[in-house]
Amino acid sequence: MTKQLTIGMFQSGAVRRTWNMAGRETDRNFTDLEYWTDLARTCEAAGVDFLFLADSYGYPTLNSTIIPTAVERNVQFSTIDPQMLMSALASVTRTLGLVTTVSTMVEKPPTVTRQYRTLDHLSGGRMGWNIVTGSAQAASALLFGEPLMPHDDRYAKADDHVELSLKYWEGCWEDDALKMDSATGTWADPAKVHEIVHDGPFFSAKGVLVTPPSPQVTPTLFQAGASSAGRELAAKYAEAVFLAAESKALADQIADIRRRADENGRGRDAVKCLIAGTFRVADSAEDALAQHQAQIESISLEHAATLYAYYTGVDLLSLDLDRAMPASAANTDSGRTNVERFLGPDAPTVREILEEFRANGVMGKPFLGTPEEVVDQAVAMIEATNADGFLVQPDPDSGHDLFLTRVMPELRRRGLIKDELPGTTLREHLFGEGRTRLPDSHPGAAFRPANLRVLA
Ligand SMILES: Cc1cc2nc3c(=O)[nH]c(=O)nc-3n(C[C@H](O)[C@H](O)[C@H](O)COP(=O)(O)O)c2cc1C
Repeated sequence: MTKQLTIGMFQSGAVRRTWNMAGRETDRNFTDLEYWTDLARTCEAAGVDFLFLADSYGYPTLNSTIIPTAVERNVQFSTIDPQMLMSALASVTRTLGLVTTVSTMVEKPPTVTRQYRTLDHLSGGRMGWNIVTGSAQAASALLFGEPLMPHDDRYAKADDHVELSLKYWEGCWEDDALKMDSATGTWADPAKVHEIVHDGPFFSAKGVLVTPPSPQVTPTLFQAGASSAGRELAAKYAEAVFLAAESKALADQIADIRRRADENGRGRDAVKCLIAGTFRVADSAEDALAQHQAQIESISLEHAATLYAYYTGVDLLSLDLDRAMPASAANTDSGRTNVERFLGPDAPTVREILEEFRANGVMGKPFLGTPEEVVDQAVAMIEATNADGFLVQPDPDSGHDLFLTRVMPELRRRGLIKDELPGTTLREHLFGEGRTRLPDSHPGAAFRPANLRVLA
């Protein structure tokens, strides 16, 4: 394989599931700043492209009520706000990309654009926005006192949100608008700072993003959520997408995203497709398998069902365990990725879905073995799916340590990752030196004042 992989490290603002395991006591320190700055420093030292901190306002509910197991066992429950960490992480790193999630259902475009622009300044152009419509939408809607919006409408709203956000980022400031000329006392040229006007189906606005352009102008755009509507959003706007499934499903999703990106005039390679994968590294394949098995046994079916309810709003334990999920249950208005992957002619039984969630959660099967073996498996996965890299999940025993200290050197030894990250911005890390801004083929480029003048 000749292509070099993009490597991101996954962590969420939530306390890790391993908080009560012997040897993982440090996972309880998720409210300490040092816990996060240490993680960022370690990721940077190993040379990964970025650290991604996932986030959601949701938690597991059924019938509009929190599931007690979620609280008792901490299933997708306690979290901090990752966005609050970002300036601290930027201050202790120099090259590491920093990616956070903000749901288009939660924050409005003026807030999102101002926050990311500020962080892009503070980090020297290393910020990425993971665009989601949000997991556990039912809980989130209740929390915000809003009705649960139908699934595809949420994506229509996301599209409108991103369009308006791009207008703010790309459309307000011409490149030479900021003068900061103390001799004339001119801060900025009013002829080169533009109010944008937007009248969309969900958002209407007229105004200016007052924070001047940051190194990337628009942060690098990520997306997660692989339902059909999610893939369409990714193909239109995302520069990188997070995907989690089995090899065949991943190959189908990636081919679909590339086809749709091409149809949108962006080209087949416009979107970096990153597989969310767990690497369990040990001194032998047998040890790795035994560790994985022990991990599965530590998780109850009730835990797995709570996790499934978090992602889908579906109560698997209320269904016949020996049949496939009935269409009535599958027709959920929560997240659909983890419903759609278990439908179709070869649909598993509900019990099999629970077992799959118990073993692997939303991820595909883990890579198990020595560093050499897991890299062999990872290469085979890239070849089978045509993906561009990995979003590495913490392994339950070592967190990220073994991946960073043992797998990264093996990837580097085989020339599968870059020796040095190109450029200084996150977009350059992903697409090469000099590519600090959105390419002209991205829909955001159409909102640049120079392009609007051409159209006028
Ligand atoms: C690796 C990965 C990371 C994700 N990170 C988030 C996240 O931080 N916040 C969130 O609400 N959803 C996240 N999602 C997506 C949700 O699980 C969910 O699929 C989506 O928000 C709902 O869209 P859907 O209906 O297309 O599934 C992530 C998904 C994957 C595969």
